[in-house]
Amino acid sequence: MGHGGFADSVLNALASTVMVLDSENRIDYVNGAGESLLRTGRENLRGQDLGTFVPSDNPLFRALDQVRAGSTRVSEYEVTLESPRIGRHLVNLHAVPHQEVQGQVVLTLHERSMADQIDRQLAQHRSAVRSVSGMASLLAHEVKNPLSGIRGAAQLLELDADPSERRLCRLICDEADRIVALVDRMDVFSETPSLERRSINVHEVLERVRQVASNGFARHVRFFETYDPSLPPLNGHFDSLVQALLNLVKNAAEAVPAEGGKITLKTAYRHGVRLAIPSRRKHVHMPLMVSVQDNGTGIPEDIQAHLFEAFVTSKPKGTGLGLALVAKIIDDHGGVVEFDSRPGRTTFRIMLPLMPDSAIGAPADKEAAR
Ligand SMILES: Nc1ncnc2c1ncn2[C@@H]1O[C@H](COP(=O)(O)OP(=O)(O)OP(=O)(O)O)[C@@H](O)[C@H]1O
Ligand SMILES: [Mg+2]
Repeated sequence: MGHGGFADSVLNALASTVMVLDSENRIDYVNGAGESLLRTGRENLRGQDLGTFVPSDNPLFRALDQVRAGSTRVSEYEVTLESPRIGRHLVNLHAVPHQEVQGQVVLTLHERSMADQIDRQLAQHRSAVRSVSGMASLLAHEVKNPLSGIRGAAQLLELDADPSERRLCRLICDEADRIVALVDRMDVFSETPSLERRSINVHEVLERVRQVASNGFARHVRFFETYDPSLPPLNGHFDSLVQALLNLVKNAAEAVPAEGGKITLKTAYRHGVRLAIPSRRKHVHMPLMVSVQDNGTGIPEDIQAHLFEAFVTSKPKGTGLGLALVAKIIDDHGGVVEFDSRPGRTTFRIMLPLMPDSAIGAPADKEAAR
């Protein structure tokens, strides 16, 4: 292809797609990232029209025309490349005229990074946390108090009711109790004073979760564990973290098939994860990763955009509070949750900040955790 071995190996090492297109938008050169983007090996790509991979009305082609017309470089952001052949990709593109060959264009495509995607899910999960906190306090005031009045009145009536009426009084009391229990479950969402934190080894949390799960609701599932034993401690609240992970594992157990269900618990230290969080001034380093992966049905497409909101559920008897609580607990720990899902493989990933050095061994204070 007229490119030296050295240049070629450098281009192949890039995560971004680099292509050289001739004046008819036929592929003259493509690097390794481009092969995977187009899902085709380069022997079969050479000489092919780019239009057979991406529909010809894609803004990409307008950019290529602009480059040739003006001999200038053109950049476009957040362009969606989509076709049955290559799937869906959100990219930023840069097209530059080839220095040496008239009509040729060098095209680079950068897939939007994982950090971008997390940022989007992050915004979603934060607003879910806010709205559910408001809802919880509202319920506590507006539902619980009147209910205790109703319950008290029914108990009074019960005293001198005949047997058949007594049954109805009991029914009122029982139903009132059921609603109070539901509201109490919501109560954990209201803005509570921050939890007592200490230095925690995530693996102890996971061990507890696995024990509870495999002796109860997840008896039918095989667990796999991939742990990084050198993971440093985090500054957290043990019971809340157990609760959050139990909710994830419970969802996983409910999604896997009755036979052959698998759940993989994983921990890792990831250096690169830094997120810009609007409400906190600086980029926050969140290197502790804990994930729960299952081989179940996958998350229904239509609820993915609102997954962390309360009452979003696809289960006949679900309350839809499980993930809302996960989001709230992880948010309280200064971390984030993200997911990615397709049939047969769903992963929930929690990213948490480290415990600051100064706090290890000392009683953790609220500020240190933020
Ligand atoms: N691992 C998973 N695989 C497939 N779908 C999932 C998974 N985790 C969550 N979901 C989907 O997300 C929805 C919301 O989950 P969430 O835990 O918040 O509520 P729920 O499980 O429906 O009810 P509850 O947790 O109160 O019993 C679920 O109903 C399900 O559709
Ligand atoms: Mg659930």
